[in-house]
Amino acid sequence: MTGQKIAVLGGTGDLGYGLAKRWADAGFDVIVGSRKAEKAETIAAEINAEKPSRGIRGLQNSDAAREADVVAVTVPFEHQQGTLADIKSEVAGKIVIDTTVCLKPPKVGTVQLPPEGSAGIIAEETIGDVARVVSAFQNVPATELRSDGPITCHVLVTGNDKEARAEVVELIGAMGATGISAGPMANSIAVEGLTSVLITINRQFKTHAGIQITNLDGHA
Ligand SMILES: NC(=O)c1ccc[n+]([C@@H]2O[C@H](COP(=O)([O-])OP(=O)(O)OC[C@H]3O[C@@H](n4cnc5c(N)ncnc54)[C@H](OP(=O)(O)O)[C@@H]3O)[C@@H](O)[C@H]2O)c1
Repeated sequence: MTGQKIAVLGGTGDLGYGLAKRWADAGFDVIVGSRKAEKAETIAAEINAEKPSRGIRGLQNSDAAREADVVAVTVPFEHQQGTLADIKSEVAGKIVIDTTVCLKPPKVGTVQLPPEGSAGIIAEETIGDVARVVSAFQNVPATELRSDGPITCHVLVTGNDKEARAEVVELIGAMGATGISAGPMANSIAVEGLTSVLITINRQFKTHAGIQITNLDGHA
């Protein structure tokens, strides 16, 4: 599995930086994607500076998607659909991990899902005819991924392709986290809604909360 190339589009941002770092530390060939190649190269160099063995490269988003076997999309909701449309021709047959949550400032602590149901459903509708779309990481604080500590929260994985979900659970396991296959893309509505609940909890307790699923009895 570590022979796979993973592109993290918008990997110059908060969540993507953490994913790129974690997968590089797990031995994957990681490419940070950005709208601007120079920005991608700068951030890749920054992540590598902490640990040169990471060997992360930076490319423009479409070039990164073309080179990769697996593509993670980590951009704000309002730019998700455009980013997916831009890379559609590069992701045929590939797993695309959508991390988007529909957050509408200033009320980001209130669930405000889109008319389609969820960002995951939008991703499925935008590129699901060519790519294997999976939704994940919506409840994972970027700070936890960017830290050097253990990833203690669980990662719910939804999508209509069961085998693709299982592969993403493995990719999550490789970075030292616990991924849990959580059903079809329709279930991403609940997962994405939970993010605003966590944001409200974060404000209350001044923390970066995540979720853990109980009673898995060693199955995850
Ligand atoms: N932050 C978290 O803790 C967290 C946790 C779970 C899920 N998420 C979800 O993950 C996604 C990314 O969150 P984030 O906090 O990492 O976001 P962010 O740091 O605000 O932005 C990520 C990247 O999006 C790209 N971007 C900005 N404007 C764009 C545009 N007009 N078109 C295309 N790309 C654009 C930028 O990359 P370039 O300028 O390099 O192109 C930016 O670095 C969001 O959908 C969020 O809901 C975040």
